[in-house]
Amino acid sequence: FSIAVIVVAAGRGERAGASAEGPKQYRRIGGKPVIAHTLQRFVDWPATGPIVAVIHPDDEMLFREACRHLNGGRDIVVTFGGRTRQQSVEAGLKALVGRDVTHVMIQDAVRPFVDTAMLERIRAAFADGAAAVLPAIPVTDTLKRGSAEGLVVETVPRAGLYAAQTPQSFSYPAIMAAHARAASEGRDDFTDDAAIAEWAGIPVRLVEGSPDNVKLTVQRDIAMADARLSSSAL
Ligand code: C5P
Repeated sequence: FSIAVIVVAAGRGERAGASAEGPKQYRRIGGKPVIAHTLQRFVDWPATGPIVAVIHPDDEMLFREACRHLNGGRDIVVTFGGRTRQQSVEAGLKALVGRDVTHVMIQDAVRPFVDTAMLERIRAAFADGAAAVLPAIPVTDTLKRGSAEGLVVETVPRAGLYAAQTPQSFSYPAIMAAHARAASEGRDDFTDDAAIAEWAGIPVRLVEGSPDNVKLTVQRDIAMADARLSSSAL
């Protein structure tokens, strides 16, 4: 296989609030921008093929600065994202056209704790013939459906429910075709790539995610990630 990695980082990170350091993927945790941690995990994984970073045109300087923190020189293809995550992923997929790629892992820049063991589980699923692989963890909280008035409507059975993580991973031609079809049918509102594969009729295989592989969404997530890295460095 040749497994490419697309790191999507073109979001504005509005839920984390404004910061002088820029959008959340450029905030520092453990002394380095979040995206530098994310990229480093893939640079360090021996099976990583081409790496594409999808960034916002306003963030070129921030991205270049983040890359200065990477160890082990690697060429990273940089392309610009779009208004939605789906459009950003599509830009990343297109940036791989003409390269030797059989599979692709699509990673949120804001998940800096992705681990090699999980990447190996995904690779094993590819070797077993899976065209779409979703790392996920079983939901452990009790789930309630609430009403607009703030009352519990019902308890949702959690058996069989999973929380989706990234890298969501695919056969490159299969996910290219699914994205192209979604775009041609005017669908640009999918919030993850597994949903596009499901919509296109591609069976999506679940593999065990990692409880550490959290998504940094709000300010508190960034503060906790920073604290975790600082304490593990002691
Ligand atoms: O907004 P959300 O938390 O879902 O973003 C997940 C990832 O997708 C982030 O890494 C963000 O930078 C990226 N994204 C993007 N282009 C967009 C929106 C989000 O690359 N238009």
